[in-house]
Amino acid sequence: MTDRLNIGVLVSGSGSNLQAIMDGCTNDTIPGRVTVVVSNKDGVFALERARNAGLPAVVINHDRYGGREYFEKALAEVLEQHGVQLICLAGFMRILSPWFIRYFSGRILNIHPALLPAFPGLHVQKRALEMGVRFSGATVHFVDDGVDTGPIVIQAVVPILPDDDVDTLSARILVQEHRIYPLAVRWFAQKRLRLVNGKVQLDAGLEHEREMTLAADKAWIHPPAS
Ligand code: GAR
Repeated sequence: MTDRLNIGVLVSGSGSNLQAIMDGCTNDTIPGRVTVVVSNKDGVFALERARNAGLPAVVINHDRYGGREYFEKALAEVLEQHGVQLICLAGFMRILSPWFIRYFSGRILNIHPALLPAFPGLHVQKRALEMGVRFSGATVHFVDDGVDTGPIVIQAVVPILPDDDVDTLSARILVQEHRIYPLAVRWFAQKRLRLVNGKVQLDAGLEHEREMTLAADKAWIHPPAS
């Protein structure tokens, strides 16, 4: 048990990505354990998911602190108390300061429902549909102090279908999020993924697996070329 990675998950909403990470730890695909779940909002379903799993679920409501500095100090303290070695942002809708990012340097991952660097920020699926892009998807990246920026670890491509609306597209992207986030966390926990001088480093085995996938399927073309 001792060399399992201690993971802290930050949430603001429904927590389906939190669930995917907790499930990965329970079924042993991730050699880690979620030691604490922190929400910046009361009453969100993610907290219930954490409590149902018997995990500490802490609310640190940003509104109750006199500024981001105090909110983040409280957050860092809770994460330290629970021995967190990797922080996973899972629908956590606060921007973290350079101080916080440096404090946990190379140890914060985020998931975003778009193919970054396209469509950072909010209302992502709506904007993708409005722009008429043919592909969207999901991205897991290390976090820097921008909005949904930082070195990219893994992406899943999701084609946009003619009848898509925000709900149908979001649902299909979410399915992919639940595939790629636990995978990135697994690699990190296995020490096969790290951030070195601001760049993502995957171990040689993983680069090989990626090349094999690309060799089999060089590109996705959508709509299909006839
Ligand atoms: C997910 O789609 C996640 O990618 C997105 O919030 C949703 C949270 O869902 N995150 C962002 O937009 C970050 N910029 P969940 O609470 O069910 O995991």
